[in-house]
Amino acid sequence: MNRFLEGASQAGADIERHYVTDLDIKGCVGCFNCWWVTPGRCSQRDDMDWLLPKMAEADVLYLGTPIYHYNIISYLQRLRERTLPLAMPEMYIEEGDTHHPARNRNEAQVTVLAAVCGFPDLVNFRQAKGLFPNAVHVFLPSAYILGSEAGRKLLGGFMDALETAGRTLAESGEIADEVREQLIVDYPEEVKQEIVSRYNESSASINIDR
Ligand SMILES: Cc1cc2nc3c(=O)[nH]c(=O)nc-3n(C[C@H](O)[C@H](O)[C@H](O)COP(=O)(O)O)c2cc1C
Repeated sequence: MNRFLEGASQAGADIERHYVTDLDIKGCVGCFNCWWVTPGRCSQRDDMDWLLPKMAEADVLYLGTPIYHYNIISYLQRLRERTLPLAMPEMYIEEGDTHHPARNRNEAQVTVLAAVCGFPDLVNFRQAKGLFPNAVHVFLPSAYILGSEAGRKLLGGFMDALETAGRTLAESGEIADEVREQLIVDYPEEVKQEIVSRYNESSASINIDR
């Protein structure tokens, strides 16, 4: 998360950071008041009162999540459900898929979804990708290897690409295709083998009764 923000900050971006785990965000109750009773306003009072307008205005929404059980964390999903007031009730069909038009939303907004997981395989991000199909994806499998010198060396190109992505997105609203490609880390088979054996070695050295 930080490397991207460093890039954005170099380009003079105005950055606000919020941790979903610290916020009071209740689950959507499906009352549809935000469509039919008080258009654009949720019936519930909590931290979404101030967060939603910020989310609507932002040029970039940079969302971060670990992968838990092949999915984004539930805190982020709850936040997502509560963005219903930013949609209008009408439906329209585009290229065979049906959508709701956006309400009061920065039309140029770019969403970046950054996810990390423990296993070395990209398949762990399948749901995350499906939930945010139009986002710029930052997927880092076996993220914990950044804790070792060898891991930081292996991921040096990825980390540099992250900073470039943050900077260029803040400067021009775009990220070059060759940079985007580097934001999804796809380890070759032999690297996965190495990651797994090192992990098993260190896990075997933890002396507890399992
Ligand atoms: C409840 C739970 C479920 C998890 N499920 C997955 C999973 O399905 N796939 C995976 O690769 N990692 C899984 N992990 C590992 C986390 O994704 C990993 O610890 C997280 O990305 C944080 O990265 P870090 O170890 O670098 O802090 C899970 C962790 C927890 C606590």
